[in-house]
Amino acid sequence: MSTPDFGESLPPTASPEAEFISLTHLNPSTELNPVPSRGIDLDFFKRYVATLEEAGYDYTLLPYGSNSADSFVTAAAVGQLTERIRPIVALRPNTTPPTVGAQKLATLDQLTEGRAVVHLISGGNDAEQARQGDYLPKSQRYARTSEYIDVLRRSWTEPAPFSHEGEFYKFDEFGPGFAPFDGPIPISIGGQSDEAFAVGGAKADIFSFWGEPLDDLRAEIDRVHGLARDAGRTTLPRIWVTFRPITASTDELAWAKAHDYVSKIAATHQRLAKRDPQNVGSQRALAFAQEKELYDRALWTRTAAVTNAAGASTALVGSPETVAAAILDYVDRGASLVSIRGYDTLADAADYGKHVLPLVRQELAHRRATGRRGSLQAQHLGNWSADYRRFATAGQS
Ligand SMILES: Cc1cc2nc3c(=O)[nH]c(=O)nc-3n(C[C@H](O)[C@H](O)[C@H](O)COP(=O)(O)O)c2cc1C
Repeated sequence: MSTPDFGESLPPTASPEAEFISLTHLNPSTELNPVPSRGIDLDFFKRYVATLEEAGYDYTLLPYGSNSADSFVTAAAVGQLTERIRPIVALRPNTTPPTVGAQKLATLDQLTEGRAVVHLISGGNDAEQARQGDYLPKSQRYARTSEYIDVLRRSWTEPAPFSHEGEFYKFDEFGPGFAPFDGPIPISIGGQSDEAFAVGGAKADIFSFWGEPLDDLRAEIDRVHGLARDAGRTTLPRIWVTFRPITASTDELAWAKAHDYVSKIAATHQRLAKRDPQNVGSQRALAFAQEKELYDRALWTRTAAVTNAAGASTALVGSPETVAAAILDYVDRGASLVSIRGYDTLADAADYGKHVLPLVRQELAHRRATGRRGSLQAQHLGNWSADYRRFATAGQS
């Protein structure tokens, strides 16, 4: 495996910026140490959100599931507990008509003085959608998302009442809707099916991925950007990529931790029923895991394999320097939004803030000042060095 060139010149695909995203946890239960409660531990929630803000994160996702806390309510709480971090509301169109969704998002945006972001989830599992009365097949769910985006944007900008008659929604004389704080709210799309690409390429401000090998991710970025250009767009969707890093002070210690973690995570997930996932993002993660455990500098897929790739599950393993360098590899491929959430949720958020985010930001500041790449990626080679590969396989049966 030959080491890529990490000389001073930057690839044309490199993003000049990187912002960091977390995911808000409402209680201390983790895949490493599950506690049998689905509720909100208010003290933990407040500490988690304060930790994200102190750690220097830019955004936090409020996820949505039919049996979890409501993402709008938790997003409003995050907004009031913080001053800077931007809440990203995961919103399934089946749960809220678009004029109401527009009004709720605009309310959140005003309450947070312009910090609201929405992540539209079309639904990756028929049974989960049916739990809240959504019986549309996935292709139609994405068609509905597409119409939903049009109504959201019109509701935020139309100065006079308007009527709408589409395939999924019909209403008369709505508006002018409640306005966002300062212009339309960014709209993100999650999903990796062809339908997700079609909607995201044509209409999304942000298109999101789970962590994939570098070349595969770049091909997916080209695909979504190609579709955006075909739709006549000059501003292309920003790219969001998601990882679950496992870090320690050295690569060797990080690998010891990773092997310990994966056995605990596997034990937690063994108790859950395993079905073949219907969503393409999880299918891709499982296919990568089947082919290889370790890709590029530090991308580890065994965590995806043992969880059946339910949700974001691919790890980056190594010292803070190795993980920061791995994140920069993705920034070089065009990602500008990087979601990192650990398996030890609260402690990891604080740790990344102290040790990982500053390294990435320092490198990007160096690039802005000099126009050249710094030395971090060349010095911390991860899987392109023999020692790292030895640590990765040490202690395995
Ligand atoms: C970054 C990211 C966050 C996601 N958050 C959620 C979520 O909160 N709730 C949910 O049901 N699905 C979530 N998803 C899953 C997909 O959006 C969902 O499976 C998709 O609607 C259909 O998948 P497909 O187009 O890949 O087949 C997320 C996906 C990504 C990439």
